[in-house]
Amino acid sequence: MSLVTSREMLESARREGYAVPAFNVENMEMIQAVLATAAELYSPVILQTTPSTLKYAGADLMKVMVTEVAQAYSIPVTLHLDHGNSIDLVIKALRAGFTSIMIDGSPLPFSENIALTQKVVQIAKVVDIPVEAELGKVGGKEDNVEVNDEEAVYTDPLKAKEFVASTGIHSLAIAIGTAHGFYKGEPKLDFSRLEKIRNEVEACLVLHGASGVPDAAVQKAIKLGICKVNFATELRAAMTRGVREALKDEHTFDPKVYLSLGKKAVQEIVKKKILLCGSDHRV
Ligand code: 13P
Repeated sequence: MSLVTSREMLESARREGYAVPAFNVENMEMIQAVLATAAELYSPVILQTTPSTLKYAGADLMKVMVTEVAQAYSIPVTLHLDHGNSIDLVIKALRAGFTSIMIDGSPLPFSENIALTQKVVQIAKVVDIPVEAELGKVGGKEDNVEVNDEEAVYTDPLKAKEFVASTGIHSLAIAIGTAHGFYKGEPKLDFSRLEKIRNEVEACLVLHGASGVPDAAVQKAIKLGICKVNFATELRAAMTRGVREALKDEHTFDPKVYLSLGKKAVQEIVKKKILLCGSDHRV
């Protein structure tokens, strides 16, 4: 199937009370692993790439690989720019054919975040692509951006209302206690904040930093209104674990052999996360 935007996908999820999992992919094997597993489970799925992945592989190549692999399956697939950090990159992704965009102005002051997001919404509207933005600061490290515990700022529900109304975004990434990367202790999510945000805004709500969050907490967040959940670290770690395992045999030298083991490890994680989000058998 050809790529679709995240608009209908997220709205169906919100209506029916599940979440669409969004998986960060960095190479062909991760793309194959995510799409084969999503197809096996009849799940809609979002594949996303950060600025550093686009620097590594290029937006056009990522789009071609995702499109080619997706053709083989009949599930809805979205290709999303994760944590877009400039107008230039947004335009590059749109020109390449990405079907969903995030602009992350969360490090900026509120009014500047609004101004940047408004510009991106205006640009994306020309090609009818929905935009995700972030308010508050999700902790941890994603790409080269690190937010330490003191700098992490939870999303204010009333500011979220103002932000969504002034920008016209389709989805909003909120900070309620999750962080990108590995957790040192067990994350505690602020569910009452999530409920308040849900009551204030119409936009679809996105949970970043879901690797390592206990299943029960992810499920509760979905029940309270999260309709997109981002997973990156656990997939990267699985890919690496599989490859490391394969390379224990010092006679292994064929990339097809060790990358296949990495792929298999990614598939196992993807399966668990699809079932956790309740997005299986929704197609
Ligand atoms: P994790 O690395 O914690 O899974 O977070 C992923 C994410 O939010 C990507 O935007």
